[in-house]
Amino acid sequence: MRIAVPAEDLSIETRVAVTPETVRKLAALGAEVAVQTGAGSASGIPDADYAAAGAQIAANLAEAVEGAQVILAVRRPSAADLAGAAHGAAVIAIMDPYGQDEALAALAQAGLSTFAMELMPRITRAQVMDVLSSQANLAGYRAVIDGAGEYGRALPMMMTAAGTVPAAKIFIMGVGVAGLQAIATARRLGAIVTATDVRPATKEQVESLGAKFLAVEDEEFTQAQTAGGYAREMSKDYQAKQAALTAAHIAKQDIVITTALIPGRPAPKLISADMVHSMRPGSVIVDLAVERGGNCALSIPGQTVVTDNGVKIVGHLNVPGRLAATASSLYARNLLAFLDTLIDKETKTFAPNWDDELVKATLLTRDGAVVHPNFLKA
Ligand code: NAI
Repeated sequence: MRIAVPAEDLSIETRVAVTPETVRKLAALGAEVAVQTGAGSASGIPDADYAAAGAQIAANLAEAVEGAQVILAVRRPSAADLAGAAHGAAVIAIMDPYGQDEALAALAQAGLSTFAMELMPRITRAQVMDVLSSQANLAGYRAVIDGAGEYGRALPMMMTAAGTVPAAKIFIMGVGVAGLQAIATARRLGAIVTATDVRPATKEQVESLGAKFLAVEDEEFTQAQTAGGYAREMSKDYQAKQAALTAAHIAKQDIVITTALIPGRPAPKLISADMVHSMRPGSVIVDLAVERGGNCALSIPGQTVVTDNGVKIVGHLNVPGRLAATASSLYARNLLAFLDTLIDKETKTFAPNWDDELVKATLLTRDGAVVHPNFLKA
């Protein structure tokens, strides 16, 4: 079984799909791994480290992919990139499939079996393969570090001979995986932390991390969590009450970190232009939802904006990629854990059980067709 790891487009992606650790484990499963030269460079992994772990270093994409039965990637490769792969080869990546009908059709027509890691069900068996969690956790941590870096003051209270420095106030909006890590990180750095969410289960989680919970806890709030554990889109009425509650609070914050998302919908707008203008000069907003439309009305994808009143709004893209080495090590382990379930240990071949619920949930294309129910043409 030959596994190929193409280099990502380094202008947008710093992570890599395998590390020397996972190459060794893949080799132990009977795989021959070809890594395109430079694939690990932005994650601090030189070719030599992959070679020492037993990988072949391919001089270019075509050489890496030639004859491969499995292609591991961070982002979705194009069908053209994979032209030299074996017939029916599997592609496992963060496929970003929504609104990408043409790209999916091309991958299907090329006969590739493509698996979207972000569609992995959130069940106990698949926790070790959950890329949304492994990457969101790092994004939450990094958002606090980025916010602290832009903020011109210290975060912890300091009592010095020259006087006392007050602790910074940090407000986290959206307390899923990223928000919880942001709370924990902000607390470790000594900030006074408050947080909000629409799912009632988050109240106890926020308080257990030593932060204060703030939310409109009405009848709709008690119904906000779906069976899948995600948030619903809230009514206009709720959104207005939420804005009224948070407006006065946001005006007093030093750093606001927003992480709020609703599956399959644009990110909810939680911070209006007026709220931004109510903040003190030097305050910082870090919008982790910027790739999904943003939680702040004034954030711009890929930019740090400074408003007229001196508020910085940070809109980094690919925040996990800002911690590329750590993000790659966790992503590579997520991939390895999934791939391990797709390999026949006796014959050492790629032999998925097509009826397995993890396969069914993630498989986008197979045998020339798009097969995932979410992406079938009506
Ligand atoms: P997410 O990335 O979809 O959303 C982030 C947060 O934004 C969520 O907490 C959501 O409630 C919140 N939000 C949405 N609309 C909002 C609004 N208008 N105002 C304020 N907050 C708003 O969520 P993530 O991080 O993927 O977590 C979703 C759930 O999945 C959680 O319950 C989490 O505990 C659970 N989970 C379960 C796992 C498992 O069982 N294996 C693994 C990871 C997460």
